[in-house]
Amino acid sequence: MIRCKTKMELRDVLADWRRAGERIGAVPTMGALHQGHLSLIAAAKKLSDRTVATIFVNPLQFGPNEDFDTYPRDMDRDLEMLKARGCDLVFAPERADLFAQDFSTKISVAGVGEGHCAKTRPQFFDGVATIVTKLLMILAPDVAVFGEKDYQQLTVIKRLVRDLDIPVEIIGAPIIREEDGLAMSSRNQYLTSPERAAAPVLFETINLAADKFIDAGSGWSKIHDWAAAQILKAGFSKVDYLNMVDADTLTAIDKPDRPARLLAAAWIGRTRLIDNIAVSPPDSA
Ligand code: PAJ
Repeated sequence: MIRCKTKMELRDVLADWRRAGERIGAVPTMGALHQGHLSLIAAAKKLSDRTVATIFVNPLQFGPNEDFDTYPRDMDRDLEMLKARGCDLVFAPERADLFAQDFSTKISVAGVGEGHCAKTRPQFFDGVATIVTKLLMILAPDVAVFGEKDYQQLTVIKRLVRDLDIPVEIIGAPIIREEDGLAMSSRNQYLTSPERAAAPVLFETINLAADKFIDAGSGWSKIHDWAAAQILKAGFSKVDYLNMVDADTLTAIDKPDRPARLLAAAWIGRTRLIDNIAVSPPDSA
């Protein structure tokens, strides 16, 4: 596995592969890898001849009071995991290689980049959209794979790629979960053991809430209140949002009459967990 720390080194390797007619698949990450990330590598390998992972804890997407400094970092372990999975190249740049000192451009995706996570993390999607655009420009992959775990992020990335005519295919990959249903996340490391024990309630509850919504045929707000109470009762400290939305536009829906997504975010202790599930209309289930 090749490791590149700078854009220049990377460009030479990629140019060789392109000259040989090889299809390039990209998997952007912030490291602290787990099976969820590795499933994206497996998906990219199926869709391309050469798989490139990026590891970069992107300062642009963290708010001033968020966990940029304490975000888990373990480069040696990450490299081993990627190598074992047959990743061909890792691009792990230093901040100074990616950002000029007077870097001042921002990519901002209105609509799908607003609401949900953007309500509590107002800088987040601009930061994600800007770094992902840069990585797609630098790598120029044929295909890039992102997890449905971050469903709003995936939607934002699909939108910006379409809007800016970036010549890459964006693929969404399913959420990988622990055995008890908790969606894998680098931030799960922050959980204390009682928090970890309570954490699967988020996934359990959104499943029950989606079933209730389908059965009721309308009226998300009542089911929302029930679900929020269940989550709090299990030991979560705050429910950030539980939004039933159209799966493409991420706008609120009140009837299960089209493909929908239930998007969820809740705090347990000092850790914010997000999750989501697909909600199919009854006749397509
Ligand atoms: P990070 O949180 O490291 O996630 C990298 C990729 O892994 C994202 O596409 C994310 O959706 C996916 N992923 C995380 N957990 C997953 C799980 N349990 N199952 C399936 N996929 C999972 O998301 C980011 O980094 C950053 O915002 C990034 C896109 C790299 C831009 O900085």
